[in-house]
Amino acid sequence: MRTQVGIIGAGPAGLFLAHLLKQKGIESIVLEAKSRDYVEGRVRAGVLEASTIDVMDRLGLGDRMHREGLVDEGLDMRFRGRTIHLDLPDLTGRSVMIYGQQEVVKDLIAARLAAGDPLHFEAPVSRLAGLDSASPQIHYAENGEEKVLTCDFVAGCDGFHGVSRACVPEDLMKVYHHAYDFAWLGVLARARPLSDMTYSNSDRGFALCSRRSMQVSRLYLQVPSTERLEDWSDDRFWDELHQRMFDDDRSEVAEGEIFQRDMAHLRAFVATPMHYGRLYMAGDAVHIVPPAGAKGLNMAVADARVLAAALARYYRDNTSEMLDSYTDRCAERVWKTIRFSTALTGLLHRFSDQTEFQRELQLSELEYISGSRAAQQSIAEQYVNLSNVDI
Ligand code: FAD
Ligand code: DHB
Repeated sequence: MRTQVGIIGAGPAGLFLAHLLKQKGIESIVLEAKSRDYVEGRVRAGVLEASTIDVMDRLGLGDRMHREGLVDEGLDMRFRGRTIHLDLPDLTGRSVMIYGQQEVVKDLIAARLAAGDPLHFEAPVSRLAGLDSASPQIHYAENGEEKVLTCDFVAGCDGFHGVSRACVPEDLMKVYHHAYDFAWLGVLARARPLSDMTYSNSDRGFALCSRRSMQVSRLYLQVPSTERLEDWSDDRFWDELHQRMFDDDRSEVAEGEIFQRDMAHLRAFVATPMHYGRLYMAGDAVHIVPPAGAKGLNMAVADARVLAAALARYYRDNTSEMLDSYTDRCAERVWKTIRFSTALTGLLHRFSDQTEFQRELQLSELEYISGSRAAQQSIAEQYVNLSNVDI
């Protein structure tokens, strides 16, 4: 089998890339290790930045998002029992959209299959060969058979645990990594959500009340990374959430049936360069942000946009100029996003080694933000549109 661009992974990075390439007349084949049900059921991020909303629209894939997604105009930060309300349209002229990552993925998969374009599920890639040649090969398995896809370029969109990053010689790649000793315990509950996305920094740790619909809340608690999901009964979860949201009389945060739970360990990670030979990587394969700020999905979309533009330039003008500068074109945005997500993590969480002095500084920063429109604007503009790319 042969194609122009072989894409490994049907997460946001791989699926957006496939659609963007198609729009530019470039053919691709997507190989995904897991089943369609598994990929569409994976609960992850939920916030689409303004530029991601625009890309969905430009691809003609925004109908269901506009019908079922929730436009989110407010970002609240709670501390000392008070709330800082950031009015996003007032501060930035834009808002974000709450629309689960698995809904985005469902829309992209449905459109790709409806158009008859190749997307192979349960087709795990085992290794890559000939990356420094003009015809790299992707070795994968399908229906118990070993197969090879030969292409002009390989797009490694296979997430943090994928195979593509491991194909870059160690001495050519620099890795920056910071692991936190806590995780986010996330649940979906059939419960009326708060009207605004609300982050809380309480003495007991971080909490976040988000939503997926007017009937479904998406709720998170900071927990030690050694914690196990089964140690969190529903009662324990609600007790802790009320306390961390300063809702001691339990009148504000509505409870309901918890029907999904997951645990996300926090880390910041950057691998650079993002390309080697004819392999170009995008999304979690080359960078992970801690989830505060909700950037992971949006970053993956931004990488896909830059890569699609560079490949289009190659095929149109027969020049690798944009491909050669792919990492450089992404690096500034990637580091700004790591910086924002890390800063928000530092502002909103409790740390095991935090001294009383550091705790006072953290609360004082929240006091400053509370009284400064300039500080609020700085957070709001990064929250709403840090992943925009000038393409
Ligand atoms: P992925 O979504 O990981 O997609 C990679 C795909 O490649 C997967 O479908 C995988 O099955 C496939 N693959 C891997 N190896 C192979 C192989 N060898 N062959 C073929 N296919 C392969 N971000 C937020 O902003 N907010 C959140 O609340 C949030 N929660 C998260 C919770 C979890 C548990 C995780 C893991 C991530 C979360 N993120 C969150 C991050 C966000 O979901 C990711 O940044 C986003 O999914 C990145 O998209 P991607 O396409 O780069 O990678
Ligand atoms: C959600 C996830 C995030 O990481 C975040 O910062 C805000 C909201 C969510 O899943 O809704």
